Parts: sequence; C-alpha cells; structure tokens
Amino acid sequence: MTLRVVQWTTGNVGRRAASAILDHPGLDLVGCYAWSPDKVGVDIGTLVGAEPVGVLATNDAEELLALAPDCVSYNPMWPDVDEMCWILGAGVNVVSTAAFITGRALGAEARSRLEVAARAGDVSLFGTGVNPGFLNLFGLVSAGICDRVDRLRVLESVDATGYASAETQLSVGFAHDPDDPATAERTERASAVFGDAVALTADALGVELDHIGFEAEYARATETMDLGFMTIPAGTVAGISGTWFGVDQRDRHIVECCYQWKMGWAMEPDWPLRHGYFVEIDGRPKVRSRFQILPPDDWDEPDYMGLGMIMTALPAVSAIPAVCAASPGIVSYTDLPLVTASGFVTP
Ligand SMILES: NC(=O)c1ccc[n+]([C@@H]2O[C@H](COP(=O)([O-])OP(=O)(O)OC[C@H]3O[C@@H](n4cnc5c(N)ncnc54)[C@H](OP(=O)(O)O)[C@@H]3O)[C@@H](O)[C@H]2O)c1
Repeated sequence: MTLRVVQWTTGNVGRRAASAILDHPGLDLVGCYAWSPDKVGVDIGTLVGAEPVGVLATNDAEELLALAPDCVSYNPMWPDVDEMCWILGAGVNVVSTAAFITGRALGAEARSRLEVAARAGDVSLFGTGVNPGFLNLFGLVSAGICDRVDRLRVLESVDATGYASAETQLSVGFAHDPDDPATAERTERASAVFGDAVALTADALGVELDHIGFEAEYARATETMDLGFMTIPAGTVAGISGTWFGVDQRDRHIVECCYQWKMGWAMEPDWPLRHGYFVEIDGRPKVRSRFQILPPDDWDEPDYMGLGMIMTALPAVSAIPAVCAASPGIVSYTDLPLVTASGFVTP
C-alpha cells in the first residue's frame, strides 16, 4: 500500500525529506506547502533540484488537507501548534523535525492540545531528527549491553558554519553578546527540545527524574566573520557548548544530551571539535561509540552540509509507515517498531 504524503516547507531539511519521499516506493508525494511566496506554484521536483513531478507547491493549507493525505512531513523553521493541531484533527499523521520529541518543551498546555487533536483525528504525531532524535535512540540501543548504567551521555560536536539558517542560528544565541543574561535565556529556550530528549531517555531507561536542567558555555568571536548568510560580529557568540541534563533521585546527572556547535574560524576559547556524534555510557561495560559520517564516493555537492540535512530528515521520513500504523496520540521511539532504511536500499 502506498502512503500519501504532503511535504510541509522545503528548506534545508524539507528539501531532503521531499527528495527521499519522491524516491521511496511506498510513499507518494501528493502535495507541498510553501511558506515562502516565491515558492507558490513551483513544482516540488524543481524545488528539490530534480525534474518536475507535476505537484505544485501551494500556500493553501486547506487545499492540501482536501487531498486526504495519510501523513504530513513537517519541516518548518518553527513548529506552529495551532497548525499542527489542525492537521492532526483533520485525521492526518505528522512526522516532524521542527523542535518536537515529546512535546515537553512546548509546555503542558500545548502538548495536551496536540495529544487531544491526534486522538480526535485518530492519528499520531512523531518528532525526531538526528539530534535530538536518532542520536538518543542510538544511545538507548547502545545501553542495551550494560548490566549497570551510571550515566548515559550523548554529544553532537560539529562545525555549523555551513548551516545556512540565520534565524535558527540567531535564535540559539549565535552573534549575540555572551555576557548578556538574555543570551543564556535565548539559548535555553531555543534548545529546550533537547530537554525532551533527556526526558525520553530517562523514561526509556525506567528512571524517575528529579528535574531537568541546562547549562551553556560560550566561545566569543575574536574577529568579525561574514558567513555569507549572516555575520558574527567580533566579541559575540561564535561557539556554544550546551548540556541538557536529567538529575535522578540520587542527585546524579543520569542522562546528558550535549551539543558543541562552532561557527566561523576565529573564536576564544577555540574548543577542539570532535566532528561527529558520540554516545558515552558510564556503567558496566563502559561504552564509547561514535557514528562517523562520511560522504559517499559519488557525493557531488560543494560541501558536506547536505549530509547533515539528510540525517535530520530521514529518521522522520523512514518512520512514516510506522507512525501511520501507530496508536493515536503523541508517539516516540519507545512506541514504534524498529525503523530502518526500508525502501531506500539500492535496487
Ligand atoms: N533534530 C534535529 O536533528 C534537527 C536538525 C536540524 C534542524 N532541525 C529542525 O528542523 C526544522 C527545519 O530546519 P531547516 O534548517 O530546514 O529550516 P529552514 O531551512 O531555516 O526553514 C524551513 C522552512 O521554514 C519556512 N520559514 C522560513 N522562515 C520562516 C519564518 N520566519 N516563520 C515560519 N516559517 C519560516 C520556509 O519555508 P519555505 O520552504 O516555504 O521557504 C523555510 O524553507 C527546524 O525546526 C529545525 O530546528 C532539527
């Protein structure tokens, strides 16, 4: 059976999601939502850099729901709870990369509305990405060999210079004054979805948390850096090392979800990046795993940022069949069967 999918926006992640949906034999891309006026009326194939496929992007959301899709692949810059509730309430499943893992970060009221809407529509809502998202699953799977877990830590340590989403980068604190308390609040607010990942991990490990917290350190630019899509003025934030942690009843940081992002080439302190995604479990055994991301031999793009976007989009796209088959409501990795690259194996 082919599942009918609508792609919601075609930015960095959405373009990769749409390409993957077009390639998947079990998915049929039937519509596309455009937030940008200049994308309205443009063929989705053209928007993703492929041949036209006869599906034009529209900003008429009602027109898209009238297509009776099975699922929306939701990749806007910011999640819109009203919009998500409306889609779910209309009986359309949603897979999202837009700051959604459990809904905790959106607040109890918004989370409850989403849960009610999904149940009313008899559909499911699933959020993922690479981090948060797949990396947390990788951490949980890695812990499956331990007979004792003292701490499960995951870390993304990457150069984000090529991630050309200025609004996203500004929202997490880049190019802001590191000494301004409002910057720390901004970073915490914009990365709150990593707190969802802490909650999900603790829940999957059967740990009751006392609380979830956050701390961040900044690196400041030592010169003004023009990245093309944004400028980082000298003295402002050019690096962020953030840790979302879950504290258990014994006052231990039992779960940590960390990110280390740098933008540009001149900053202090100049933390050495580890370039990848890491799972570090203190326990028995101690586990140290890294998934190493390399371009395939036929990669022909000028840089490797696209790999990160594929890795963000695919955990959501690959989950579409499982999400469409899941029980109604908000679902997470603990509710879904094993999600693989089924449909993407080269013929
Ligand atoms: N969990 C993870 O691993 C992970 C990693 C990376 C990103 N993400 C999340 O995935 C989502 C998509 O990321 P992205 O890099 O693809 O985003 P993006 O390219 O910056 O923006 C996505 C789309 O949002 C629309 N848009 C632009 N400005 C907007 C505004 N001010 N208000 C509302 N919509 C606007 C545009 O739609 P049009 O296509 O119509 O122009 C744009 O293409 C974001 O929520 C991001 O935080 C998650």
